Amino acid sequence: MGAFEYKKGELYCENLSVREIIEAVGTPCYLYSHKTLVDNYQAFDEAFTLVKHTVCYAVKTNANLSILRTLANLGAGADIVSAGELYRALTAGFKPEKIVFAGVGKTEDEIYYALKNDILMFNVESLPELDLICAVARKVKKKARISFRVNPDINPKTHHHISTGLAQNKFGISINHAAEAYERASMDKSLEVIGVQVHIGSQITTVEPFVEAVQKVFILLKTLKDLGIELKYIDLGGGLGITYNDEKPPTPQDLAKAIMPLIRKTHYQYIFEPGRYIAGTAGILVTKVLYLKETQAKKFVIVDAGMNDLSRPVLYDAYHEIKPVKGSGKNEMLVDVVGPICESGDYFAKKRSLPLVEQGDLLAIFNAGAYGFSMASNYNARPRACEVVVSKNQYYMIRDRETFGDMVSNERLLDIK
Ligand code: LLP
Repeated sequence: MGAFEYKKGELYCENLSVREIIEAVGTPCYLYSHKTLVDNYQAFDEAFTLVKHTVCYAVKTNANLSILRTLANLGAGADIVSAGELYRALTAGFKPEKIVFAGVGKTEDEIYYALKNDILMFNVESLPELDLICAVARKVKKKARISFRVNPDINPKTHHHISTGLAQNKFGISINHAAEAYERASMDKSLEVIGVQVHIGSQITTVEPFVEAVQKVFILLKTLKDLGIELKYIDLGGGLGITYNDEKPPTPQDLAKAIMPLIRKTHYQYIFEPGRYIAGTAGILVTKVLYLKETQAKKFVIVDAGMNDLSRPVLYDAYHEIKPVKGSGKNEMLVDVVGPICESGDYFAKKRSLPLVEQGDLLAIFNAGAYGFSMASNYNARPRACEVVVSKNQYYMIRDRETFGDMVSNERLLDIK
């Protein structure tokens, strides 16, 4: 749990009582620990000090400007997948020369925006995309730096919605046909071919798939070398898992130990794109118990957060630890923890053992810092939660709770006949 600890039966985030913060800001609320964010980033960064590298935080994980600013200030780069993420990254202070752009569907406008801002490189995912990048580069008389994202056909053994490096997935160019793509790209004067990228999936809990991916990339590099193509950057993507329940994922140190023998004595510049590892454990979602409801079949704890706030349970069958903010007593009831939304998929836990809770109690949903708020929506016309960061003895509102006005601010109320 790191910076989220119980002291005398009350949950603290760093030096502050979660209950006291929530009394001031209300629920539902995403609460982040600054220290955990920094520690996680540094643990990842330090694990790879033996090679030249940049940690490009995956912005999609948690894109709040203040979270991004913290990471930019630590020297992180950014992995982006849209012009919107580029806008956020630049606004937060990331250096363009540390920004890499992935994604299978980059539009012409997005390519233009990224070129104009001189990002480090596009991680190109198809030949038609390559053609468009060339065309835009010629139009604006700039050279586009590119890598190919290769698909190594490796099973990362994670939830099928978040595996990306299998042949059947939409991502990257098959590693078996990558050499031809490199040959074609290296002949184009509007391009500078500088790297290779591989990202095989998310919430990966063993080192083997990463090792296999690195091995396959080095086989490709040898082929390219024989063709006279030399690269500078190897981008190994993100994907390192965290403990939500009883997983025992490798630490960044374990990962480094496993791949270091392969990468250490090379001259390449490495890029890593962790997201979940950096932000996941740094956040909790705090919600209030609205009702206890018992039906013939089950007991429900109905809370004021919903799947619009945290959709991971229904999307990926994801487990998130849930505990009362006050009193970590022994588990005495078997319940489903559900939200107020009109769907049966609106749940945070099923058949979960929890201590007795009452109406009005606060619950903390742990490990919600990654893909929590960033995937939130206004479904059921629910304003999105506020976001708060704690640093030592101080808390900072980094996103106000949405108002009803915010929710309709870009709609037009027309009487259409
Ligand atoms: N790089 C690329 C190109 C990615 O697509 C991703 C995540 C990452 C890096 C960061 O991966 P991480 O280190 O966080 O595993 N919404 C899902 C996860 C989707 C991951 C998408 N890509 C979830 O809540 O589990």
